[in-house]
Amino acid sequence: MLHRIATVAEIPVGKSREFVAAGRMVAVFNVDGSLYAMDGVCPHAGGPLGEGTLTRSVVTCPWHGWQFDVTTGRHCLNARITHPTFPVSVVGDEVFVELPDDKPA
Ligand code: FES
Repeated sequence: MLHRIATVAEIPVGKSREFVAAGRMVAVFNVDGSLYAMDGVCPHAGGPLGEGTLTRSVVTCPWHGWQFDVTTGRHCLNARITHPTFPVSVVGDEVFVELPDDKPA
């Protein structure tokens, strides 16, 4: 289901923000003007990925430093770990994220 979560201005280039939508934390990243959304809860120990540091397309979790490519959800060192990503669309100045209907456990 499509959820409006922000305006474009709320997510500046090179930054990330976290939002709550459909009962889940969603991290949204602005990589050179393109927006990407990922599950906002780090799979390591639940850290807030939306509060991480974004370097190009890589976010570093603020808790213990796990790194993910936000365009794919892939962990940068462990190919077996892929974190869920969600499609993003922009209509006018509003940002929408397509989230699964099932809620996270
Ligand atoms: S909780 Fe994200 S690296 Fe540990």
